[in-house]
Amino acid sequence: MSAVTLWHGRFADRPSDELLAYTASLPFDRRLAGDDLTGSRAHVRGLVRAGLLTGDEGAILIAALDRVEVEIEDGSFAFRPGDEDVHTAVERRVTEIAGDVGARLHTGRSRNDQVATDLRLFTRRELVGTARSVLALEEVLLDRAESAGDAYLPGYTHLQRAQPVLLAHHLLAHAWALARDVDRLLATRRRLDVSPLGAGALAGSSLPLDPDAAAADLGFASRFANSLDAVSDRDFVAEALFDLALLGIHLSRMGEELVLWSSEEWGFATLADAYSTGSSMLPQKKNPDIAELARGKAGRLIGDLTGLLATLKGLPLAYNRDLQEDKEPLFDALDQVRGGLAAMAGLYATVELDLEAMRRAADTPSAAAVDLAEWLVERGTPFRQAHALVGGLVRDSLERHVPLAELVEAHPALGTAALGLLAPGVAVTRRSTPGGAGPQPVAVQIAAYRGELAGQRRLLSARGVGPSADRQEGTPAG
Ligand code: ARG
Repeated sequence: MSAVTLWHGRFADRPSDELLAYTASLPFDRRLAGDDLTGSRAHVRGLVRAGLLTGDEGAILIAALDRVEVEIEDGSFAFRPGDEDVHTAVERRVTEIAGDVGARLHTGRSRNDQVATDLRLFTRRELVGTARSVLALEEVLLDRAESAGDAYLPGYTHLQRAQPVLLAHHLLAHAWALARDVDRLLATRRRLDVSPLGAGALAGSSLPLDPDAAAADLGFASRFANSLDAVSDRDFVAEALFDLALLGIHLSRMGEELVLWSSEEWGFATLADAYSTGSSMLPQKKNPDIAELARGKAGRLIGDLTGLLATLKGLPLAYNRDLQEDKEPLFDALDQVRGGLAAMAGLYATVELDLEAMRRAADTPSAAAVDLAEWLVERGTPFRQAHALVGGLVRDSLERHVPLAELVEAHPALGTAALGLLAPGVAVTRRSTPGGAGPQPVAVQIAAYRGELAGQRRLLSARGVGPSADRQEGTPAG
């Protein structure tokens, strides 16, 4: 027990080993070191502006914080077992470096507003990084959609073949979901862009600190309106976890599809060697492990979200130590999603699609059943009657083992004129309404998606999200 805590004045006894072991957050919150230093530098400048530090004292503290940053980056920073959390570790080291002035660093500040500030800085940047990784996967999907040409495959409902759709249309269905993910991540980022610095432990300060100036210094869009809310609000973590969980669910659905497509039963896809795994026993196996883990990890991401929500639900105002439990789920969700996005981008960029197998599966005559009904509608038959008529022909064809084409040709209301609808590749070309699955609307859609990505690229550029988003992009995980 070597610890000197930040609170030792009030205590006659030292903290027990059990307490330190159970309550420490340093093993995971050291990941916030870079943001803690950013927040502390802003706080020092605020203390100088307030006349609570001389310019010289401020300079000594900033220099000490800079040195801590170098030590953390080059790995020479010596975390001590008694450092309860990253804030303690940094303040301890600053005091070792700066001497007596170090004791002034925490003036007017609490770890409660400090940790909230650190975590907002961290999340603000990480959400942009995540959105950029989503964009990379979106680009892969767009690329594959553009090169899919007029390839088509069965579209399914209830996992039963329903109507043929262009492959580009199918790929872009996933891509639009990802576009909404980017939207959501950036909306969450916008809402969290509020500085808690200056809220103190819970009630603000008697010292002449200026939270507006602190917010501006840190590049936040605004400061907190209510100090109690500032230190107890973790909505932004919950929102980020929801965004990540839903993004993970999208990756899971894409993964599930590749599992099916790469099975022998489907035979639509062959995964690249570099993105599949083998079996330790069965020499012939090639397994879609990335796709399966994208599916499996969605459960964990949902757990990260629900765990935090459960932590938050009973908390009285304002800060409670329970809030320390916000970090691990957030870090985990970010890591898992970023890893999943990179792996799925590689998988999608390299998967070989068997367009011939897709075409064969889509070209069953009954795939054009609704086209026969709509052909009758165009000639005046009420849709319900047309539906019943075609349904009867399909049943007849199945029961008597007569090709549907023969029955269509022989039917007085249909005949040879309608037969063309059953020809391979015809049905998909007839989906012509806006947003539909046929060649004309899909060409429009591809152009729209290209525009969407151009907009996202702009938003996610350093200019779009502001220079602060790029600061410390590479902060080591600890
Ligand atoms: N490690 C703590 C956390 O992550 C920092 C804040 C501690 N505040 C306190 N009053 N004990 O929440």
